[in-house]
Amino acid sequence: MSPHFFLQSFDVIDSTSMKARELVMGGVAPWTVVVASEQNQGYGRKGNFWYSPIGGLYFSIILPRGDINDLQALTIFAATTVSETLKEQFRIKPSIKLPNDVYLNDKKICGILTENVVGERVLFSVMGIGLNTNIEQFPHELENGVTSLKIELGRTIDNEALLEHIVTRLQDDFRTMNG
Ligand code: BTN
Repeated sequence: MSPHFFLQSFDVIDSTSMKARELVMGGVAPWTVVVASEQNQGYGRKGNFWYSPIGGLYFSIILPRGDINDLQALTIFAATTVSETLKEQFRIKPSIKLPNDVYLNDKKICGILTENVVGERVLFSVMGIGLNTNIEQFPHELENGVTSLKIELGRTIDNEALLEHIVTRLQDDFRTMNG
């Protein structure tokens, strides 16, 4: 089967993961992907604020429950997919920092947060991925620990194309895992 997902795009949103959870409650197809250009309440692990200005790539995938029921395992799985996609697309060498980060040149470039949500009788996982693509500058308190693809590569990244590459690859990897 050729990979297929359903995109719901927003300009400014509170958080793509909050929106995805809302969609699950209302009944939604698995592999719906919520993407936004900007988030004003983006969050990460332990409720940490996720810096989400225009330029970055922010999306949440509504996943069907498969063989991998462990959220940590799901997140590590996704970090590997993101890292492999970046490697392939940009000829760079990202590294995975467990449990949920992708690093480039010793700075964080991507964070992943996976949560379980119970919808109409069915259990879904919402996987939120924040990728620093075209962010040119970070606030002072963040700049020592984080970076973006644009800063590291010196060029603008096509967010739409990258989203498609990541979700398609994730879907392929999932199908392989789940038979
Ligand atoms: C972390 O490193 O703690 C995880 C960060 C996850 C951020 C992403 S951005 C898209 C999605 N929406 C959110 O509010 N959070 C996740």
